[in-house]
Amino acid sequence: MEIRERVAVVTGAASGIGRATAVALARAGARRVVLGDVDESGLAETARRVEEAGSQAPWVATDVSDPEALERLFDRAEADGGGLDILHNNAGLSGGTPTWPDISVDRIAKLVDVNLKGVLFGTRLALPRMARCGGGAIVNTASMAARTPLPPEAIYCATKVGVTMFTQSCAALGESHGVRVNCVCPGITETPMLQTTGAGGRGMADYLKPVYAALVPIEPGEIAAAVLALIEDDSQAGVVVELPNAARAAT
Ligand SMILES: NC(=O)c1ccc[n+]([C@@H]2O[C@H](COP(=O)([O-])OP(=O)(O)OC[C@H]3O[C@@H](n4cnc5c(N)ncnc54)[C@H](O)[C@@H]3O)[C@@H](O)[C@H]2O)c1
Repeated sequence: MEIRERVAVVTGAASGIGRATAVALARAGARRVVLGDVDESGLAETARRVEEAGSQAPWVATDVSDPEALERLFDRAEADGGGLDILHNNAGLSGGTPTWPDISVDRIAKLVDVNLKGVLFGTRLALPRMARCGGGAIVNTASMAARTPLPPEAIYCATKVGVTMFTQSCAALGESHGVRVNCVCPGITETPMLQTTGAGGRGMADYLKPVYAALVPIEPGEIAAAVLALIEDDSQAGVVVELPNAARAAT
Protein backbone atom coordinates (compact mmCIF):
# COMPACT_ATOMS: atom_id res chain seq x y z
CA MET A 1 0.00 0.00 0.00
CA GLU A 2 1.31 3.40 -0.86
CA ILE A 3 1.27 5.56 2.30
CA ARG A 4 0.90 8.90 0.50
CA GLU A 5 -2.53 10.49 1.17
CA ARG A 6 -3.61 7.63 3.47
CA VAL A 7 -5.27 7.93 6.87
CA ALA A 8 -3.44 6.14 9.70
CA VAL A 9 -4.10 5.49 13.39
CA VAL A 10 -1.25 4.83 15.82
CA THR A 11 -1.82 3.71 19.43
CA GLY A 12 0.77 4.24 22.12
CA ALA A 13 1.60 7.31 20.04
CA ALA A 14 2.66 9.55 22.94
CA SER A 15 6.13 8.04 23.23
CA GLY A 16 8.83 5.72 21.91
CA ILE A 17 8.03 3.44 18.99
CA GLY A 18 4.50 4.83 18.44
CA ARG A 19 5.79 8.39 18.23
CA ALA A 20 8.51 7.30 15.79
CA THR A 21 5.98 5.49 13.58
CA ALA A 22 3.61 8.46 13.61
CA VAL A 23 6.36 10.83 12.45
CA ALA A 24 7.62 8.32 9.85
CA LEU A 25 4.08 7.99 8.43
CA ALA A 26 3.88 11.77 8.15
CA ARG A 27 7.25 11.92 6.38
CA ALA A 28 5.99 9.23 3.98
CA GLY A 29 3.10 11.53 3.04
CA ALA A 30 0.14 10.22 5.06
CA ARG A 31 -2.70 12.75 4.88
CA ARG A 32 -3.70 12.28 8.50
CA VAL A 33 -2.07 10.42 11.39
CA VAL A 34 -4.57 10.02 14.23
CA LEU A 35 -2.85 9.54 17.57
CA GLY A 36 -4.19 7.53 20.53
CA ASP A 37 -2.67 7.07 23.99
CA VAL A 38 -3.53 7.56 27.67
CA ASP A 39 -0.79 10.21 27.99
CA GLU A 40 -2.30 13.50 26.77
CA SER A 41 0.80 15.69 27.10
CA GLY A 42 2.85 13.13 25.17
CA LEU A 43 0.15 13.04 22.49
CA ALA A 44 0.27 16.82 22.12
CA GLU A 45 4.05 16.68 21.59
CA THR A 46 3.78 13.86 19.02
CA ALA A 47 1.05 15.84 17.22
CA ARG A 48 3.39 18.83 17.03
CA ARG A 49 6.10 16.65 15.43
CA VAL A 50 3.68 14.98 13.00
CA GLU A 51 2.32 18.36 11.87
CA GLU A 52 5.88 19.64 11.45
CA ALA A 53 6.46 16.63 9.15
CA GLY A 54 3.48 17.68 7.03
CA SER A 55 0.42 15.64 8.12
CA GLN A 56 -2.73 16.46 10.05
CA ALA A 57 -2.42 15.04 13.56
CA PRO A 58 -5.64 14.92 15.57
CA TRP A 59 -5.27 13.08 18.85
CA VAL A 60 -7.75 11.36 21.12
CA ALA A 61 -7.08 10.30 24.73
CA THR A 62 -7.57 6.55 24.35
CA ASP A 63 -7.22 3.55 26.61
CA VAL A 64 -6.80 0.67 24.15
CA SER A 65 -8.35 -1.79 26.58
CA ASP A 66 -11.67 0.10 26.24
CA PRO A 67 -13.50 -0.82 22.99
CA GLU A 68 -15.65 2.35 23.14
CA ALA A 69 -12.55 4.51 23.33
CA LEU A 70 -11.12 2.70 20.31
CA GLU A 71 -14.34 3.32 18.36
CA ARG A 72 -14.02 7.06 19.15
CA LEU A 73 -10.41 6.98 17.92
CA PHE A 74 -11.42 5.29 14.65
CA ASP A 75 -14.39 7.68 14.26
CA ARG A 76 -11.88 10.52 14.37
CA ALA A 77 -9.87 8.90 11.58
CA GLU A 78 -12.98 8.74 9.40
CA ALA A 79 -14.20 12.21 10.39
CA ASP A 80 -13.63 13.86 7.00
CA GLY A 81 -15.48 11.13 5.11
CA GLY A 82 -12.28 9.35 4.12
CA GLY A 83 -11.57 5.78 5.21
CA LEU A 84 -9.27 4.25 7.77
CA ASP A 85 -6.35 2.76 5.83
CA ILE A 86 -3.59 1.97 8.32
CA LEU A 87 -3.52 0.93 11.99
CA HIS A 88 -0.46 0.44 14.19
CA ASN A 89 -1.63 -1.44 17.31
CA ASN A 90 1.36 -0.46 19.39
CA ALA A 91 0.36 0.59 22.94
CA GLY A 92 1.94 -1.63 25.55
CA LEU A 93 3.36 -1.99 29.05
CA SER A 94 6.09 -4.10 30.63
CA GLY A 95 5.44 -6.13 33.78
CA GLY A 96 8.25 -4.39 35.61
CA THR A 97 8.97 -4.91 39.30
CA PRO A 98 7.81 -6.97 41.25
CA THR A 99 8.70 -9.55 38.64
CA TRP A 100 7.14 -12.95 37.94
CA PRO A 101 5.99 -14.76 40.08
CA ASP A 102 5.62 -11.93 42.63
CA ILE A 103 3.76 -9.63 40.21
CA SER A 104 0.29 -8.68 41.50
CA VAL A 105 -2.88 -10.15 40.07
CA ASP A 106 -4.01 -6.61 39.18
CA ARG A 107 -0.84 -6.01 37.17
CA ILE A 108 -1.31 -9.33 35.33
CA ALA A 109 -4.83 -8.25 34.39
CA LYS A 110 -3.54 -4.85 33.22
CA LEU A 111 -0.88 -6.41 31.00
CA VAL A 112 -3.40 -8.74 29.38
CA ASP A 113 -5.87 -5.87 28.95
CA VAL A 114 -3.42 -3.49 27.27
CA ASN A 115 -0.88 -5.71 25.48
CA LEU A 116 -3.23 -8.42 24.27
CA LYS A 117 -6.86 -7.27 24.41
CA GLY A 118 -5.83 -3.84 23.08
CA VAL A 119 -4.53 -5.53 19.91
CA LEU A 120 -7.47 -7.92 19.61
CA PHE A 121 -10.05 -5.14 20.08
CA GLY A 122 -8.20 -2.73 17.79
CA THR A 123 -8.04 -5.28 14.98
CA ARG A 124 -11.64 -6.43 15.45
CA LEU A 125 -13.01 -2.88 15.39
CA ALA A 126 -10.83 -1.53 12.57
CA LEU A 127 -11.46 -4.52 10.28
CA PRO A 128 -15.00 -3.69 9.05
CA ARG A 129 -14.10 0.00 8.69
CA MET A 130 -11.10 -0.87 6.51
CA ALA A 131 -12.97 -3.51 4.52
CA ARG A 132 -15.78 -1.02 3.76
CA CYS A 133 -13.42 1.27 1.91
CA GLY A 134 -11.40 -1.26 -0.02
CA GLY A 135 -9.01 -2.71 2.57
CA GLY A 136 -6.13 -1.69 4.77
CA ALA A 137 -2.95 -2.61 6.61
CA ILE A 138 -2.59 -3.37 10.33
CA VAL A 139 0.77 -3.77 12.07
CA ASN A 140 0.89 -5.02 15.65
CA THR A 141 3.82 -4.47 17.99
CA ALA A 142 4.81 -7.75 19.64
CA SER A 143 8.35 -8.27 21.00
CA MET A 144 11.38 -10.54 20.84
CA ALA A 145 10.09 -11.52 24.29
CA ALA A 146 7.57 -13.59 22.29
CA ARG A 147 10.47 -15.56 20.81
CA THR A 148 12.99 -15.83 23.66
CA PRO A 149 11.84 -16.46 27.25
CA LEU A 150 12.56 -13.65 29.72
CA PRO A 151 11.48 -15.32 33.00
CA PRO A 152 11.06 -12.15 35.15
CA GLU A 153 8.69 -10.87 32.43
CA ALA A 154 6.77 -14.14 31.99
CA ILE A 155 3.39 -12.35 31.77
CA TYR A 156 4.69 -9.80 29.26
CA CYS A 157 6.15 -12.70 27.21
CA ALA A 158 2.80 -14.50 27.29
CA THR A 159 0.89 -11.42 26.07
CA LYS A 160 3.37 -10.91 23.22
CA VAL A 161 3.16 -14.57 22.13
CA GLY A 162 -0.59 -13.95 22.03
CA VAL A 163 0.03 -11.05 19.65
CA THR A 164 2.28 -13.07 17.32
CA MET A 165 -0.06 -16.07 17.13
CA PHE A 166 -3.07 -13.79 16.68
CA THR A 167 -1.25 -12.03 13.84
CA GLN A 168 -0.41 -15.31 12.11
CA SER A 169 -4.01 -16.43 12.57
CA CYS A 170 -5.18 -13.28 10.76
CA ALA A 171 -3.28 -14.11 7.56
CA ALA A 172 -6.44 -15.05 5.67
CA LEU A 173 -8.03 -11.62 6.29
CA GLY A 174 -5.81 -10.36 3.47
CA GLU A 175 -7.85 -12.40 1.01
CA SER A 176 -11.25 -12.32 2.71
CA HIS A 177 -11.37 -8.65 3.76
CA GLY A 178 -8.47 -6.98 1.92
CA VAL A 179 -6.87 -6.25 5.30
CA ARG A 180 -3.29 -7.40 5.80
CA VAL A 181 -2.34 -7.99 9.45
CA ASN A 182 1.36 -8.31 10.31
CA CYS A 183 3.55 -7.73 13.34
CA VAL A 184 7.01 -6.63 14.39
CA CYS A 185 8.99 -8.16 17.26
CA PRO A 186 11.44 -5.50 18.45
CA GLY A 187 14.40 -6.40 20.58
CA ILE A 188 15.33 -4.02 23.38
CA THR A 189 14.57 -0.56 22.04
CA GLU A 190 15.73 2.73 23.52
CA THR A 191 12.40 4.12 24.74
CA PRO A 192 11.07 5.42 28.09
CA MET A 193 9.51 1.99 28.75
CA LEU A 194 12.90 0.65 29.86
CA GLN A 195 13.01 3.24 32.65
CA THR A 196 9.60 2.16 34.03
CA THR A 197 10.63 -1.40 34.87
CA GLY A 198 12.18 -0.72 38.30
CA ALA A 199 10.41 -0.74 41.67
CA GLY A 200 7.49 1.69 41.75
CA GLY A 201 7.72 2.09 37.96
CA ARG A 202 10.94 4.09 38.24
CA GLY A 203 14.35 3.36 36.73
CA MET A 204 15.59 0.19 35.05
CA ALA A 205 14.80 -3.15 36.70
CA ASP A 206 17.72 -5.17 38.06
CA TYR A 207 16.87 -8.09 35.75
CA LEU A 208 17.13 -5.81 32.71
CA LYS A 209 20.50 -4.22 33.48
CA PRO A 210 22.72 -7.18 32.44
CA VAL A 211 20.57 -7.82 29.35
CA TYR A 212 20.79 -4.14 28.37
CA ALA A 213 24.55 -4.10 28.99
CA ALA A 214 25.10 -7.09 26.68
CA LEU A 215 23.08 -5.83 23.70
CA VAL A 216 23.04 -2.85 21.35
CA PRO A 217 19.66 -1.18 21.89
CA ILE A 218 17.61 -0.42 18.79
CA GLU A 219 16.49 3.14 17.99
CA PRO A 220 12.68 3.60 17.72
CA GLY A 221 13.13 4.91 14.16
CA GLU A 222 14.45 1.51 13.08
CA ILE A 223 11.28 -0.18 14.35
CA ALA A 224 9.18 2.48 12.62
CA ALA A 225 10.99 1.72 9.34
CA ALA A 226 10.08 -1.97 9.69
CA VAL A 227 6.44 -1.05 10.40
CA LEU A 228 6.29 1.13 7.28
CA ALA A 229 7.90 -1.64 5.18
CA LEU A 230 5.10 -4.02 6.23
CA ILE A 231 2.46 -1.42 5.37
CA GLU A 232 3.98 -0.84 1.95
CA ASP A 233 4.57 -4.50 0.94
CA ASP A 234 1.27 -5.86 -0.37
CA SER A 235 2.63 -9.43 -0.37
CA GLN A 236 2.87 -9.58 3.44
CA ALA A 237 -0.03 -10.98 5.51
CA GLY A 238 0.16 -12.87 8.81
CA VAL A 239 3.90 -12.27 8.93
CA VAL A 240 5.98 -11.92 12.12
CA VAL A 241 9.12 -9.83 11.58
CA GLU A 242 11.88 -10.32 14.16
CA LEU A 243 14.10 -7.33 14.93
CA PRO A 244 16.68 -8.74 17.36
CA ASN A 245 19.45 -6.80 19.06
CA ALA A 246 23.06 -7.17 18.01
CA ALA A 247 25.46 -8.20 20.79
CA ARG A 248 27.69 -5.40 22.09
CA ALA A 249 31.30 -5.77 21.01
CA ALA A 250 33.54 -6.88 23.88
CA THR A 251 35.71 -4.03 25.20
N1 LIG B 1 11.16 -0.64 24.34
C1 LIG B 1 11.40 -1.93 24.12
O1 LIG B 1 12.49 -2.45 24.44
C2 LIG B 1 10.37 -2.79 23.46
C3 LIG B 1 10.76 -4.02 22.94
C4 LIG B 1 9.82 -4.83 22.33
C5 LIG B 1 8.52 -4.43 22.22
N2 LIG B 1 8.16 -3.21 22.73
C6 LIG B 1 6.76 -2.84 22.58
O2 LIG B 1 6.69 -1.63 21.85
C7 LIG B 1 5.46 -0.98 22.14
C8 LIG B 1 5.72 0.49 22.41
O3 LIG B 1 6.51 0.59 23.58
P1 LIG B 1 7.71 1.64 23.72
O4 LIG B 1 8.94 0.88 23.90
O5 LIG B 1 7.61 2.67 22.66
O6 LIG B 1 7.36 2.22 25.16
P2 LIG B 1 6.85 3.66 25.62
O7 LIG B 1 6.60 3.52 27.07
O8 LIG B 1 7.79 4.70 25.14
O9 LIG B 1 5.47 3.81 24.84
C9 LIG B 1 4.34 3.04 25.17
C10 LIG B 1 3.13 3.95 25.08
O10 LIG B 1 1.96 3.17 25.34
C11 LIG B 1 1.09 3.98 26.09
N3 LIG B 1 0.08 3.20 26.80
C12 LIG B 1 0.23 2.47 27.93
N4 LIG B 1 -0.95 1.94 28.30
C13 LIG B 1 -1.87 2.36 27.40
C14 LIG B 1 -3.25 2.16 27.23
N5 LIG B 1 -3.96 1.43 28.13
N6 LIG B 1 -3.87 2.72 26.19
C15 LIG B 1 -3.19 3.48 25.31
N7 LIG B 1 -1.87 3.73 25.41
C16 LIG B 1 -1.22 3.18 26.45
C17 LIG B 1 2.00 4.73 27.04
O11 LIG B 1 1.36 5.87 27.60
C18 LIG B 1 3.16 5.07 26.14
O12 LIG B 1 3.00 6.32 25.52
C19 LIG B 1 4.85 -1.74 23.32
O13 LIG B 1 3.84 -2.61 22.85
C20 LIG B 1 6.02 -2.54 23.86
O14 LIG B 1 5.60 -3.71 24.52
C21 LIG B 1 9.05 -2.39 23.34
